Amino acid sequence: MRALVIGASGMVGGALMRALSQRGHEATGTYRNYPIEGYSLLDVNDGPSAERLILQTNPDWIFCPAGMTRADLCEEKPYEARRDIFEGPLNIGRLGKRFGAGFVFYSSSYVFDGQEGPYCEEDQPKPLNVYGQCKLAAELAIQAQLDRWLILRTIVVYGLEAQSKNFVCQVLRAAQSGTRMPVTIDQISNPIYSEDLASSSVELAEQNKIGLYHVAGAVSLDRFNFGQLVCEVFGYSPAFLDPLPTSQLLQLASRPLHSGLRIEKAQAELKTPLRGALAGLQAMKEEMLVKESVKRRGI
Ligand SMILES: NC(=O)c1ccc[n+]([C@@H]2O[C@H](COP(=O)([O-])OP(=O)(O)OC[C@H]3O[C@@H](n4cnc5c(N)ncnc54)[C@H](OP(=O)(O)O)[C@@H]3O)[C@@H](O)[C@H]2O)c1
Repeated sequence: MRALVIGASGMVGGALMRALSQRGHEATGTYRNYPIEGYSLLDVNDGPSAERLILQTNPDWIFCPAGMTRADLCEEKPYEARRDIFEGPLNIGRLGKRFGAGFVFYSSSYVFDGQEGPYCEEDQPKPLNVYGQCKLAAELAIQAQLDRWLILRTIVVYGLEAQSKNFVCQVLRAAQSGTRMPVTIDQISNPIYSEDLASSSVELAEQNKIGLYHVAGAVSLDRFNFGQLVCEVFGYSPAFLDPLPTSQLLQLASRPLHSGLRIEKAQAELKTPLRGALAGLQAMKEEMLVKESVKRRGI
């Protein structure tokens, strides 16, 4: 397939570019603030540039992991959140429809309130914060207005990424610098390795599937346990992690606590394994060692 990845400079976008190339597809990537050589600059809200890029690349599928991703920032800037998470991506989905491309949108477990997780695709969404509300608004509009669409809800994604922002990278940085790090004890999720999410996305598009899928890891655990597991796999003492209840973090956006996504539907339809946190972290460590060795040898 020919693919266009909007937001290829981010974690999921980077993994998508790798998965597409590994599976023999042709991919064009875009960035917004973090330039990457060979990728095109694109803001999701710039319709004319998006249209030009779609015409130039003639994609079969547009993957759109782009948008604001920090829940507290969305709470602070609801107008920008709605524009970047809902309106901009929806417009790109509509352009795709006009030119014959399917659209893959990345949503979140934050569409749920975290009272009774883990959730399946049929459970009733009830977002607690602006980020979740914007994701849900986008989901509903995509389902109503597009023909070939995939909505992939995911949760706590981790992996190697150019900008090293994700939770596992934060834990590793704190471990290496000896900085104390507060981590919540009451947020339950089933984290997914970015490479598994990316391969699943490409596999679903290859099969020309349409629909809503929960794509997450196979094992649920709370964030503090996840931090401890990161330390165990990467060989650090977890003593620098400070366990705290979410209420003490005083975050602007309310968090769904007992969350997590049930993944039976994705597991039944995918060959890509959705690894649990231990296997995913081990794979990430291996990938990191390969990268470091390649760098050392100057290849
Ligand atoms: N990471 C998670 O734990 C998680 C959990 C649930 C759902 N999701 C969803 O999965 C998707 C991917 O997440 P991620 O972790 O890969 O996010 P990320 O690393 O923050 O990447 C976001 C990407 O979007 C681009 N972007 C931001 N604003 C844009 C705009 N106005 N126009 C065009 N591009 C824009 C960024 O470009 P620059 O960096 O170049 O500015 C970056 O490439 C997101 O939709 C997120 O909401 C993620």
